[in-house]
Amino acid sequence: MPRDFTDFEFNFLTSDDSEEIIKFLDEQLAPRVPLIKATGETSASLLGKIYMRDVLNCLESGLSFAARHKTTKTIAGVALSEIFSLEETLKVAAMKNTSKMNQILGKLYDNITHFDGVDAQGMLHLYVLCTHQDYANLGLGSCLFQKTLELGKERGFQAMNVEAANSLTARIGDRFEFETLAMVDLTTLEEEFGINTSIIPGETIIKLMMKRFPGNISISNTSPQSH
Ligand SMILES: CC(C)(COP(=O)(O)OP(=O)(O)OC[C@H]1O[C@@H](n2cnc3c(N)ncnc32)[C@H](O)[C@@H]1OP(=O)(O)O)[C@@H](O)C(=O)NCCC(=O)NCCS
Repeated sequence: MPRDFTDFEFNFLTSDDSEEIIKFLDEQLAPRVPLIKATGETSASLLGKIYMRDVLNCLESGLSFAARHKTTKTIAGVALSEIFSLEETLKVAAMKNTSKMNQILGKLYDNITHFDGVDAQGMLHLYVLCTHQDYANLGLGSCLFQKTLELGKERGFQAMNVEAANSLTARIGDRFEFETLAMVDLTTLEEEFGINTSIIPGETIIKLMMKRFPGNISISNTSPQSH
């Protein structure tokens, strides 16, 4: 860190890219995310559920981008983001036919009713951070994370959050001074969800991490004070 990324171009994604992105996530995300491995879910099973809608939302949000190799145009990594809705996250987590992944991620919000100083549209949610295995550990994940952070600030969001389902993402979040708001220990959910954490040693903690952008003022914070 930092590495030289002159071989890469960073482009915003749209719904026109959905086929390519779904293929990339099929190959590079689902088989590697510890949480998904432990649940035994697959990209195909997830895509039949709410995950597909979420990926499309991210592509349509104007907040998602990919790093492509300049010569081959192949995708080296993606950061897919959307506007966060606590209400929607809790609704999805409570759905009977949703994925184990969504139900478990929903547990991160068990004790959260709101985020102080963050409006309904004020939180940028980094939904997927994924780099191609061929480009792992070169700083690209951190670079995509940082670009999302900068985009969030520029677009006037008050905060950014990420559900770190991987210790490396949590490490990146720590480095960019994200606070950890909640944690779920997957070993405590083995029975409830029928998950196998023995195949993800050292990767059993999931964290909800958030960073505020102090310069970006919440509308709800701008009303006159009563005293
Ligand atoms: C998580 C992920 C995006 C990180 O991408 P990356 O391009 O390797 O990230 P970076 O090169 O910026 O490395 C980030 C940190 O992880 C460390 N790291 C990366 N790969 C590592 C490895 N194989 N072994 C040990 N440390 C590693 C880096 O040293 C760096 O640590 P630092 O912050 O202390 O310097 C990537 O591993 C990935 O796509 N994983 C599969 C999908 C996934 O789980 N996504 C996250 C879901 S929330």
